[in-house]
Amino acid sequence: MEKLNGKKKVSVAVFISGRGTNLRSLIKFSKIKSSKIKIVLVVSNNKKAKGMYFAKKNKIKLLLVNYKFKINAENKILINLKKNNINLICLAGFMKILSKKIVKSYKNRILNIHPSLLPKYKGLNTHIRVLKNKEKFTGCTVHLVNTKLDSGKIIMQKKVKVLKKDNEKSLSKRVLRTENLIYPKAVKKFVFSIL
Ligand code: GRF
Repeated sequence: MEKLNGKKKVSVAVFISGRGTNLRSLIKFSKIKSSKIKIVLVVSNNKKAKGMYFAKKNKIKLLLVNYKFKINAENKILINLKKNNINLICLAGFMKILSKKIVKSYKNRILNIHPSLLPKYKGLNTHIRVLKNKEKFTGCTVHLVNTKLDSGKIIMQKKVKVLKKDNEKSLSKRVLRTENLIYPKAVKKFVFSIL
């Protein structure tokens, strides 16, 4: 961890694949003086990911990898994580499953945000399934990443009410707003527990 005036800051890498609203809210949080994180690297597996704009705008190093060659991509990622002394990885809409090699070398140091109240609705298309099952509530979860999909220890969750008039678009929009709110809070809580 990087020492700043006697205080420690955790060096964070954020992994994205798409629009990057969660990345944007983590960057905003990292800029608060009292925040204990510094985002030093953004990794994208998608050369068209809109979220890369937030890395560029904030002069954060950007690493683009091609998962068509997964072993190469992950070797490149690992080298860059080490080179930048990354202490914590935040997955923020990263649509690839990390191999055991990365998960094990960053054991208990990888967070993910998932758009459901885990352990319910692991995997993809959560909102469609929530609506189909006529759930009254859904929400989002920040959890640690282990080798099983969406199954690591839960750090923070927040409920979101499902409205009668909701469709996939309206529900995902409301859940996303909640994700953007809780991800920095969860990171703050988690980082205090490891400092
Ligand atoms: C979020 O809904 C997140 O929970 C899911 O992918 C989406 C990413 O959104 N894993 P964004 O790229 O952060 O805007």
